[in-house]
Amino acid sequence: MKILAIESSCDETAAAVVEDGKTVRSNIIASQIEEHKKFGGVVPEIASRRHCENILDVVTRALDGAGCTLDDIDAFAVTYAPGLIGALLVGTSFAKGLAMATGKPLVPVHHIAGHIAANYLTDSSLKPPYLCLVASGGHSHIIEVLDYTKYHVIGRTRDDAAGEAFDKAARVLGFPYPGGVHIDKAARQGDPDAYTLPRPKITGSEFDFSFSGLKTAVINIVHNADQKGEEINKNDLAASFQKTVSEILVSRTIAAAKEYGYKTVALAGGVSANSSVRGLLESECGKNGFRLYMPTLDLCGDNAAMIGCQAYYDYLAGRRADESLNAAATLSLDDIAV
Ligand code: KG4
Ligand code: ZN
Repeated sequence: MKILAIESSCDETAAAVVEDGKTVRSNIIASQIEEHKKFGGVVPEIASRRHCENILDVVTRALDGAGCTLDDIDAFAVTYAPGLIGALLVGTSFAKGLAMATGKPLVPVHHIAGHIAANYLTDSSLKPPYLCLVASGGHSHIIEVLDYTKYHVIGRTRDDAAGEAFDKAARVLGFPYPGGVHIDKAARQGDPDAYTLPRPKITGSEFDFSFSGLKTAVINIVHNADQKGEEINKNDLAASFQKTVSEILVSRTIAAAKEYGYKTVALAGGVSANSSVRGLLESECGKNGFRLYMPTLDLCGDNAAMIGCQAYYDYLAGRRADESLNAAATLSLDDIAV
């Protein structure tokens, strides 16, 4: 079964053809990063406009790359939530148009479910149930993946997402948007123990996250040094920040796996590309005898192949959308069980 999938929830216009949830026939991404860079972050209005301009070309290239025409496609899939509403609307409207014009089914896909599914593309031996740490620019979740289409969120961020914290810390250190990858690079040259940064104390849930205090600590260190005319060692601060974020993410995930009795752990979302998060999760899973799955680096960030993969399982579970499908800026994974 060939699914043509579309992803436009943030600043990447993406389309892919995925066969039977496992074979990626094409995976096209038109990134808008260069344009948003000058503003230090994504400008929603610009993102929507660029999606409108790019989407026909991106979808055409995905079909061409897969050696397909619309006749060869069995179903369409689209990210409908969560994300920037104007950006999501471009993808959902385009996908609805394709489905209506061809009379073929349309499968609505949750963006986070797509990130999780990137792991099935990387290693088809992964099967639910398992525990997944999702860390992206907009979300930080610990999720029980009960089945391919059923989830239970057991921890989430109370303020900034992990990727957002990376981007804000990077900005104050003078790195361009999106800064996560620059912190990752700078940290390789730095001493992760040079700075002691605060770890959040959270009451209520031991599996929730909070990154705003840590982000503020980095900002204060930089501003205080500026005021005193002192030089900051950027590499050291990047390495210390990255180590602290990694420890917060990984310690809670390991604790949740123990508490909920999971021996299989997966990682997903843009921050899953981070070398320290990957390395620490790998060593901690190893120590505890857990099997770890991580997406290959090309599938960590936003892409449509992961949406096409998840759509296959959603399709098998009977999920369909019609022309009344609307995009949603927020939607919890807990609320979408098929
Ligand atoms: O999943 P994603 O592509 O978009 C959202 O759904 O939000 O995640 C983007 C986030 C950005 O905050 C970006 O800085 C972060 O992932 N990111 C990284 C790395 N690569 C991307 N953060 C830390 N280290 C990286 N290597
Ligand atoms: Zn994402």
